[in-house]
Amino acid sequence: MAHDAKHPQSFHHPHDDCGLPVREHVLMSFSDFCFAYEDRPTLRHITLDIYAGDSVVLMGDNGSGKSSLLKAMSGLVFAQQGSYRFDGEEVCERSMRDSGFSKRLHQRVGFIFQDSDSQLFCASVADEIAFGPRQMGLSEMDVEKRVDDTCRMLGIDDLRNRAPYALSGGEKKKVAIACILSMNPDVYCFDEPLNGLDAKTRAWLLDFLRELKRAGKTLVIATHDQSLADALADYFVYMDDFHEYGDRPHVHINQ
Ligand SMILES: Nc1ncnc2c1ncn2[C@@H]1O[C@H](COP(=O)(O)OP(=O)(O)O)[C@@H](O)[C@H]1O
Ligand SMILES: [Mg+2]
Repeated sequence: MAHDAKHPQSFHHPHDDCGLPVREHVLMSFSDFCFAYEDRPTLRHITLDIYAGDSVVLMGDNGSGKSSLLKAMSGLVFAQQGSYRFDGEEVCERSMRDSGFSKRLHQRVGFIFQDSDSQLFCASVADEIAFGPRQMGLSEMDVEKRVDDTCRMLGIDDLRNRAPYALSGGEKKKVAIACILSMNPDVYCFDEPLNGLDAKTRAWLLDFLRELKRAGKTLVIATHDQSLADALADYFVYMDDFHEYGDRPHVHINQ
């Protein structure tokens, strides 16, 4: 890999020297990835490999590009220079125009927005949870089963017929998670998942994240929350020069 003094984020993966298990399968690979909103560079020369099963906590000041990086992982924004490959396949505007490809990516990489309201748009919770499985082309019988299983797993059976907009913040977060869980993705991208939740829902969510990790899912979590970071992070990815947990395995990107 070419190293460029101006872009030191070509890094030594933390697995190399921090006693973490050697992983074999690179699931998400960013190479010199650049993205700007209009003329404002937001993601700068990002080179980063995330392996299947990694649990990564993404940290950085407000505006440092965390949400934008999660969007890039989920195929919602694209490289203007460099590339992003998911499981070996390049994710770009052209490849995402292929509806089979984009559906597959959205099934495999789930994105739980910071603001649940921007994720929920159906008339009922059941329809909301059924949306992803329907997009995947499952039969109505299988869709129904996914909705049943997901509601049972998250303990939200009683919300099935409710209108998502009328739920509490904690209920909305559970429904937003249910919409992703019902597609059984390989990767879960969580954008500041604990924000605005009460203590009980936070504790529930921490347990849920631990379960996902135990199940071997790949987690990428943008958060400022130390208890979440301590509980979940195999390593940290810092945007810019953020270095609050400098003694833990970490890499710096977007400098
Ligand atoms: N939709 C958008 N249009 C224009 N600029 C945006 C948009 N979303 C984010 N930005 C800008 O991109 C930068 C990074 O934002 P973001 O990825 O949301 O950072 P973070 O999640 O770390 O707070 C900020 O300067 C923000 O103002
Ligand atoms: Mg953000």
